[in-house]
Amino acid sequence: MVILRLFTALLVGLLLLKSAEALHEQAILEAIGKELAIPGWDLNSTDFCSWHSISCSSNSSMVERLNLSGFRLQGNLTLISELKALKWLDLSNNNFQGSIPSAFGNLSELQFLDLSFNMFGNSIPGELGKLKNLKALNLSNNLLAGSIPDELEGMENLHYFQVFTNKLSGFIPMWIGNLTNLRVFAAYENEFIGDIPVNLGLHSELLLLNLHSNKLEGTIPESLFAMEKLEFLILTNNKLTGLIPDSIVNCKGLSNIRIGNNKLIGGIPKAIGNISSLTYFEADNNTLSGEIVSGFAKCSNLTLLNLASNGFSGTIPPEFGELNNLQELIVPGNNLYGEIPTSVLRCKNLNKLDLSNNKFNGTIPGDICNTTKLQFLLLGQNSLRGDIPREIGYCVKLLELQMGSNYLTGSIPPEIGHMKNLQISLNLSHNHLHGQLPKDLGKLDKLVSLDVSNNQLSGNIPLELKGMLSLIEVNFSNNQFTGPIPVFAPFEKSLNSSFLGNKGLCGEPLSSDCGYGFEHNGYHHRGSYRIILAVVGTGLAIFIAVTVVVLLYMMREKQEKTTTEAGNTTDEICGKPVIIAGNVFDENLKQAIDFDAVVKAVRKDTNKISTGTFSNVYRADMPSGMILSVKSLKSMDKTIIHHQSKMIRELEKLSKLCHDNLTRPIGFAIYEEVVLLLHHYYPNGTLAQFLHESSQKPEYEPDWPTRLSIAIGVAEGLAFLHHVAIIHLDVSSGNVFLDSKFTPLVAEVEISRLLDPSRGTASISAVAGSFGYIPPEYAYTMQVTAPGNVYSYGVVLLEILTTRLPVDEAFGEGVDLVRWVHGASARGETPEQILDAKLSTVSFAWRKEMLATLKVALMCTDTIPAKRPRMKKVVEMLQEVTQS
Ligand SMILES: *[C@@H]1O[C@H](CO)[C@@H](O)[C@H](O)[C@H]1NC(C)=O
Ligand SMILES: *[C@@H]1O[C@H](CO)[C@@H](O)[C@H](O)[C@H]1NC(C)=O
Ligand SMILES: *[C@@H]1O[C@H](CO)[C@@H](O)[C@H](O)[C@H]1NC(C)=O
Ligand SMILES: *[C@@H]1O[C@H](CO)[C@@H](O)[C@H](O)[C@H]1NC(C)=O
Ligand SMILES: *[C@@H]1O[C@H](CO)[C@@H](O)[C@H](O)[C@H]1NC(C)=O
Ligand SMILES: *[C@@H]1O[C@H](CO)[C@@H](O)[C@H](O)[C@H]1NC(C)=O
Ligand SMILES: *[C@@H]1O[C@H](CO)[C@@H](O)[C@H](O)[C@H]1NC(C)=O
Ligand SMILES: *[C@@H]1O[C@H](CO)[C@@H](O)[C@H](O)[C@H]1NC(C)=O
Ligand SMILES: *[C@@H]1O[C@H](CO)[C@@H](O)[C@H](O)[C@H]1NC(C)=O
Ligand SMILES: *[C@@H]1O[C@H](CO)[C@@H](O)[C@H](O)[C@H]1NC(C)=O
Repeated sequence: MVILRLFTALLVGLLLLKSAEALHEQAILEAIGKELAIPGWDLNSTDFCSWHSISCSSNSSMVERLNLSGFRLQGNLTLISELKALKWLDLSNNNFQGSIPSAFGNLSELQFLDLSFNMFGNSIPGELGKLKNLKALNLSNNLLAGSIPDELEGMENLHYFQVFTNKLSGFIPMWIGNLTNLRVFAAYENEFIGDIPVNLGLHSELLLLNLHSNKLEGTIPESLFAMEKLEFLILTNNKLTGLIPDSIVNCKGLSNIRIGNNKLIGGIPKAIGNISSLTYFEADNNTLSGEIVSGFAKCSNLTLLNLASNGFSGTIPPEFGELNNLQELIVPGNNLYGEIPTSVLRCKNLNKLDLSNNKFNGTIPGDICNTTKLQFLLLGQNSLRGDIPREIGYCVKLLELQMGSNYLTGSIPPEIGHMKNLQISLNLSHNHLHGQLPKDLGKLDKLVSLDVSNNQLSGNIPLELKGMLSLIEVNFSNNQFTGPIPVFAPFEKSLNSSFLGNKGLCGEPLSSDCGYGFEHNGYHHRGSYRIILAVVGTGLAIFIAVTVVVLLYMMREKQEKTTTEAGNTTDEICGKPVIIAGNVFDENLKQAIDFDAVVKAVRKDTNKISTGTFSNVYRADMPSGMILSVKSLKSMDKTIIHHQSKMIRELEKLSKLCHDNLTRPIGFAIYEEVVLLLHHYYPNGTLAQFLHESSQKPEYEPDWPTRLSIAIGVAEGLAFLHHVAIIHLDVSSGNVFLDSKFTPLVAEVEISRLLDPSRGTASISAVAGSFGYIPPEYAYTMQVTAPGNVYSYGVVLLEILTTRLPVDEAFGEGVDLVRWVHGASARGETPEQILDAKLSTVSFAWRKEMLATLKVALMCTDTIPAKRPRMKKVVEMLQEVTQS
């Protein structure tokens, strides 16, 4: 009896204790909710475990997980440290400022802490070292300074340690090498100095080390390869010296070796072929020497080999022909010689071959374009002899052909006009070419830059060249051309130096007049030959090409100048900006837009709407009352200033691209070194917000007919892009805006996040789009294609049908939305169980339409690209859904 009573008392006591705990927890959460103004927390409801962003432990009412990622929050975070049972804390992607609260060190249960993508400053508090259970710490993309405090040595359970893109300095502490569980260490884009710890990798199975863009010195330590588990080694852009350790070849799983922009010496380890997983090897801009070892040929997955700007000599090993996955072979700026390696040309995936600035002294082989995928062929600044073969006409995929500064002879074959895709550049300058320019050059209607200067070419500049509608840059100088220069806008706009050195040329832009004799042969006939921008598709193609070039420069600059950039953000507040250039494309809007107000808005961080890889987006309220969305490209360097006028012209062309389901720039402004693109502001936000953030307010739950019409609109926008040969690089619900009538507009057409895999150290997802939308084949091809767009669109369609995120832990480990939906029948679930039941149970008609749409989504997300329908077909199928 007594025992029973005692037991009851204990039980009651426990219950009381529990509810006291819960009350405390509730009070803390209410205070946090008020302090941070968290949208959607119903502070009146006591069941806080059901509030969004919160998960409680199963056996008590204690908060175990708090995920406030991406709510643009700011305020004082200290109170969170009172949530004693917290295991997971994700505060990433907000606007938090000031120091990281040292009280977080009190969260003794914490296993996961993500504070990345905020504006935390000052130094990292040493108190975090009390987090003995912490497995993952992410402090990346903040403004943290000072060194990594030694107290953090207490985090002995750390698996993932990420502090990249901050202003951290000092040495990388030795104790990091003592963390026995460390798998991932990413500290790139900081100001670390000194050596890489010589014990790093000695005590733990390190998988990923990324330290690019610091000021590290000393050698690459052998310890990194001791456990033989390393998969990613990224040390680009430091001051590392010494040899590439031979023991690197013990890591058979190493897929990425990126050690460019250092001061490494010696040769490539002879046994490099042992690294069977090697996919990327990038060691450009070092002082490496010796021969290019043939062992690379054994790395069957090798996709990129970049050895540019070193001291390599000898020839390219013929064994490279076995590299079926090789996409880019980049070896300019060495002392290589011999014939152009025909075996390499047989690599069936070869996309880029850059042999420029070497001593190659053979001829151009007739089967140069037997590889059908070659897009970049760069052979300039060598000692190539002989004629340009007629077979060059088979290079139908080429975007760029550089053959300048060689000893090429003979005439330019007319077949050159068959390279219909040539866009970026055709350079035949500084050779010994003679004869006339072939008329067929005029068929290259996408070409932006043509250089035939410094040869012995003669005859007229053919009138047919006026077919080159996309030309921006030409150079005919120092030849023996005669007669009048055709009246053609790109020629007239050129500097006269592009035509100088030809004794017999006359007409604009040269000052020598041709007289009236040519009036009737078609050379001088102003007006009737005026080029109108009629071929929208062509204009866009160039735009993309130019944008790619610009983005590549930006990417490079990002790597080099992150530190100065971080410093600039504070400087930007002072001083009045000087607007270098600016325009509003639509006459009707000119009055309403004030550039000073635009720049002012961009300089205020509270106006920031979103942050992307290359741009930040701001809201700008004009004095006229108009609201703009302003995209600020993160930085430009001198090269872009040089390309500025081209960029502006192409932007203007793009602004004329009319489709109801695409956003287009309405203007731009350039101040200091910042480019701002102006767009309409869409108050209804993005499709992602519409689908995933309205669930807290059931009255705003988007209904099925609205969703279907949005789905069709997005499909139409993409089908139009594909029609004009543009591949979108980041199709996702976050890149679809909704206007006041919920008409969808596909955004990010102009600043697609295209990167050259050979340049950046950006992750694959940064290249291919948003996580969850990336087509499976991208892992192999590294190229975004039209079927890839269809896949990403299919993911958006599934979001619309299921109201679920593309990636969600609820699907289970490693399962994303696509796999979850495709796996439904295997799990014995009916399609109805996949669809958003709130919609599919409303009416029989809705349900039927949703099932038909699901069928389309399944086709779009087929693993095999060839099986996916084209975007145009998708539009047709969805229209049938509405009609039936
Ligand atoms: C919470 O309660 C207060 C007063 O009790 C009320 O004014 C407020 O509207 C309620 N808030 C919500 C979201 O229900
Ligand atoms: C809840 O369960 C966990 C194990 O799942 C246990 O460690 C913890 O002590 C339990 N807490 C309470 C209050 O019962
Ligand atoms: C938190 O939520 C965001 C977006 O909802 C998600 O991307 C992220 O993975 C979540 N974090 C954790 C730790 O679950
Ligand atoms: C945040 O709040 C705590 C008390 O909860 C206070 O001690 C601290 O000074 C505040 N921090 C800032 C930066 O205001
Ligand atoms: C929490 O941490 C702060 C600073 O690290 C410390 O002063 C305080 O005593 C701690 N509070 C508790 C309840 O442990
Ligand atoms: C690393 O661990 C070793 C042996 O466990 C110890 O002697 C050494 O002092 C530690 N180094 C650091 C920097 O903590
Ligand atoms: C080569 O690397 C050095 C750093 O080692 C860097 O300063 C320089 O800009 C790089 N050059 C190129 C062309 O990337
Ligand atoms: C090559 O890549 C494929 C796909 O990622 C992978 O399955 C395969 O194991 C790799 N081969 C080697 C030798 O690592
Ligand atoms: C090419 O250059 C190499 C090295 O200078 C020389 O040995 C070879 O004879 C040259 N080949 C031709 C065809 O000139
Ligand atoms: C190149 O292609 C042609 C015909 O398409 C073929 O005759 C020739 O053998 C090929 N050359 C090589 C080296 O594959």
